[in-house]
Amino acid sequence: MSNNPDWQARSLASVWHPCTQMQRATVVPPLPIARAQGPWLIDHEGQRYFDANSSWWVNLFGHADPGIVSALKQQLDLLPHVMLAGCTHAPAIELAERLSARTQGVLGHAFYASDGSSAVEIALKMSFHHWRNVGQPGKREFVCVRQSYHGETLGALAVTDVQVFRDAYHPLLLQAHQVASPDDRQARPGEDAQAVAYRAAHELENLLAQRHDQIAALIVEPLVQCATGMAMHHASYLQRVRALCDRYRVHLIADEIAVGCGRTGTFFACEQAGIWPDLVCLSKGITGGFLPLSLVLCRDTIYRAFLSDDVSRGFLHSHSYTGNALACRAALAVLDRFDSQDVLGRNAHEAAVLDQALQPLMAHPSVEHPRRRGMIWAFDVKAEYAQGRFAEAFHLAGRRHELLVRPIGRTVYLMPPYVLNDDLSRWLAERLQATLHETLHQTVQAHDADRTHQPPTA
Ligand SMILES: Cc1ncc(COP(=O)(O)O)c(C=O)c1O
Repeated sequence: MSNNPDWQARSLASVWHPCTQMQRATVVPPLPIARAQGPWLIDHEGQRYFDANSSWWVNLFGHADPGIVSALKQQLDLLPHVMLAGCTHAPAIELAERLSARTQGVLGHAFYASDGSSAVEIALKMSFHHWRNVGQPGKREFVCVRQSYHGETLGALAVTDVQVFRDAYHPLLLQAHQVASPDDRQARPGEDAQAVAYRAAHELENLLAQRHDQIAALIVEPLVQCATGMAMHHASYLQRVRALCDRYRVHLIADEIAVGCGRTGTFFACEQAGIWPDLVCLSKGITGGFLPLSLVLCRDTIYRAFLSDDVSRGFLHSHSYTGNALACRAALAVLDRFDSQDVLGRNAHEAAVLDQALQPLMAHPSVEHPRRRGMIWAFDVKAEYAQGRFAEAFHLAGRRHELLVRPIGRTVYLMPPYVLNDDLSRWLAERLQATLHETLHQTVQAHDADRTHQPPTA
């Protein structure tokens, strides 16, 4: 069996890794993972790592979960894939029915795709096309929230507010409106999270009052803006934006790609605000982290606006693997788990245990804004402590403590698979704390060394 360095060298010579400056990848080579079981990733030399971000937030019930594996094996023998234009199949139908039922039938149809970004593209196109079909083609603008992330394809990037991802492609992007983020870390003296939410919603209200005839949809990440640093907000923000979208006849698109499937404590994050959007994007955890699948659920009013004898009024969007039967079958196994076991209740119990175990870390003088929503924990390391390449140093220190963690800037977060138990939670908190201490020690030393080597005028 080849060892880790062999695989790393071959990977760097042939694979262009995502979200990576490949020149730096020679210094921080990718972890070569040979197999995975439960929360553990195991490299080619038998070293284990706790998958603390559920492999980019997709893995729900641990790796190689036997229930999902067995559902997939059965489906493999029956029907791995058939195109969904002109054909249909039981897994796609049952999945659409069961997800719609989880919205009490408010969102009646599911349109399938493969990745989160494709779902966002679909929701944007569907919204615009709906308005066009109902005689309002001028509604062609989109609104997104500052610090939002909705993916990397051109449409999704246009409604994303991350400079480092957008800047190079700026000339290619649609111009979307940006409104204030309800991020509750932005509370001014005397404000609570709800006040921040109302202030942010007020900015949206001003925009909609002026431009609602041109605006097709607002897209939001309900409760947690994950990719820009686990920015959390009060559920009343969603209630306000729902009311504003109703008043100004603008679609509300909930991007639940990261926060759906129980991640925030309810199956859909929007449930905590007691609202339903007009379109919901789901992906990531829906297959338990086994296969790429995404979908957009929409209200019947939107669906019906596409029904016509005229083919061009239909939604002609398609992807080759749309509604892949294996992926839908994995998703059904995920829903079976939610239906047959108290996944959310169990998570709530384990989250309380982990909260307790994380207390000393969250109280560390270098830490600010400790926060949690459901199965997402985050804290920021104060700027004066997060020197140099903090995220990279933390990630590398994590590897030495059997953790796979990838901070976002100076935000450290945990999004573990839903397989915690009391011992594992305490272990995780201990290792995270050790990782923080090691990182702080190293980055301060490196920073001091840098300063010693700088010319006096710098
Ligand atoms: C909220 C949100 N929307 C969209 C996406 C894009 O999904 P994908 O990476 O599958 O294209 C992500 C990915 O992290 C996300 O977090």
